[in-house]
Amino acid sequence: MTDLFDLTVGYVRFKNPVAVASMAGITDGAFFDSCTDAGLYILGGYSLDTATMAASGEMAKRGRKEFIAERPLELIEADLKKVSGKGVAIGINVRAASLEPLIAAAELAKSYGAMMELNAHCRQEEMAAIGVGEVLLKDRVGLSRMVAELKKTGVVLSLKMRAGIVDELPLLRLLEKAGLDIVHIDTMGSRGPNVNLIKKLRDGTGLFIIGNNSITRYETAQAAYSAGCDMISLARPVMENPKIIKSLVTYTEDQQRMSGWYNAPSHICRGGDLRGLTWCCPPVKDCPIHMALRRANLSPDTFARIKMGFGKATKLEGGSMTCFGSMVWCCKFNKHCYLRDGSMEEKALDMKEYVGLKKKLADEIMKNIDKDRVVT
Ligand SMILES: Cc1cc2nc3c(=O)[nH]c(=O)nc-3n(C[C@H](O)[C@H](O)[C@H](O)COP(=O)(O)O)c2cc1C
Repeated sequence: MTDLFDLTVGYVRFKNPVAVASMAGITDGAFFDSCTDAGLYILGGYSLDTATMAASGEMAKRGRKEFIAERPLELIEADLKKVSGKGVAIGINVRAASLEPLIAAAELAKSYGAMMELNAHCRQEEMAAIGVGEVLLKDRVGLSRMVAELKKTGVVLSLKMRAGIVDELPLLRLLEKAGLDIVHIDTMGSRGPNVNLIKKLRDGTGLFIIGNNSITRYETAQAAYSAGCDMISLARPVMENPKIIKSLVTYTEDQQRMSGWYNAPSHICRGGDLRGLTWCCPPVKDCPIHMALRRANLSPDTFARIKMGFGKATKLEGGSMTCFGSMVWCCKFNKHCYLRDGSMEEKALDMKEYVGLKKKLADEIMKNIDKDRVVT
C-alpha cells in the first residue's frame, strides 16, 4: 500500500499528520490504547534525573499529575515496549537538569525508532528553579549547544515550546543550524492556532512544524495546515474525547485524497505564506506579490525564471487558454477558473496531478529562497 501522506523526518515515518501531545501523568503506554488512529503519539513528559524527579514530586504534592519513578529510563522503556510496532510514530517528551540523562533518553528513543522531544514548555516553578522547561528558551546559546550534543546520538529531535516567550524566529534559526529537526509550537493565547506566527516560522525556517493549542475542530485544524503546519497536535481535547483524533484524521485524509496537498497555502493576495507564490501570476501588475518577493529577497526576474524553468518538461508548461500562456501562473484548486480547467482538459491533466506539480513548484521556489534572509 502506498502512503497517502509522504511524511517522514529522519527515521520516523508518520502515517498521518495528527499527533497526540504529551501530558505528564496521563499520556503513557495505557492511554495510548485510545489514540491508535494518530500519526504520532508523544509519551511523557518524563523527568529523567534526581533534580527533575524531586521537582515532579513537589508538583505532585500540589495535585499535578506526574510520572513518578525511581528509575525513569526503565519506566520509559516499559512504555515504549507497550506502544512500539503498532503503526503509530512515537515520541518521548523529557526534562532533565543536565545533559547526560537527556543523552541516555535520546539513545533509548532512537533504539525504539522513536523521536525525542526536549521539553522547553513546562513553566512550573519547581522546574524553572532548576533551569528546566521554558527557561531553556532564554539561553539561546546554551540550548543550541544542548541540541547539537543530543543530535550526535542520531536521534530525531523535536523542541516543545510555547509561543510568545522569546523572539521565536532567531532562536529557531539557530537551533535548526544546530541540528533540530522539529519545532512543536504551542501557540497559546490565541483562540485556535496563531496563523501569523506559523507562517513566519514556515517562511523563515526549514523545520518540520507541529502546531498545537486549542485545535478542536476541522476549521482550526485547516487554519493550522494552511499556514504551513506539517502536523497538528492535541492534548486536552483528547482527554475530553479521544474520538476527536479519528475525526481529524478522517478530515485530513479526505483533504489529501481530494487535493493531494492537505497543507496547501493560500494565495499570496489572501495572506498566504511564501509557498503561495506557486499560485501567483507573473509580477506584472500592482499587487501583493511584489511585497512577498521583497520579503523573500527574490527579484521579479529570478522568480519568473524559477517558474518558467520548472515548467519546462512538465505538464505545467504552456496552456493556450490560460491568462499568461503557461500553467505555472495558474491559481489554486479551490478557485473556479474555466481557463485553467480548459487547459487542464487539453493536457489531460487531472486536478490531483496539477496540484502535485504546483506543490513541487512551491518546493522549488522555497529552495531558491535564503530562509535566513526572509524578512518577517
Ligand atoms: C495535564 C497536562 C499535562 C501536560 N504535560 C506536558 C508535558 O509534560 N510536556 C509538555 O511539553 N507539554 C505538556 N502539556 C501541554 C500540552 O502538551 C499542550 O501543549 C497544551 O495542553 C495545549 O494544547 P491543547 O490545547 O491541545 O491542550 C500538558 C498539558 C496538560 C493539560
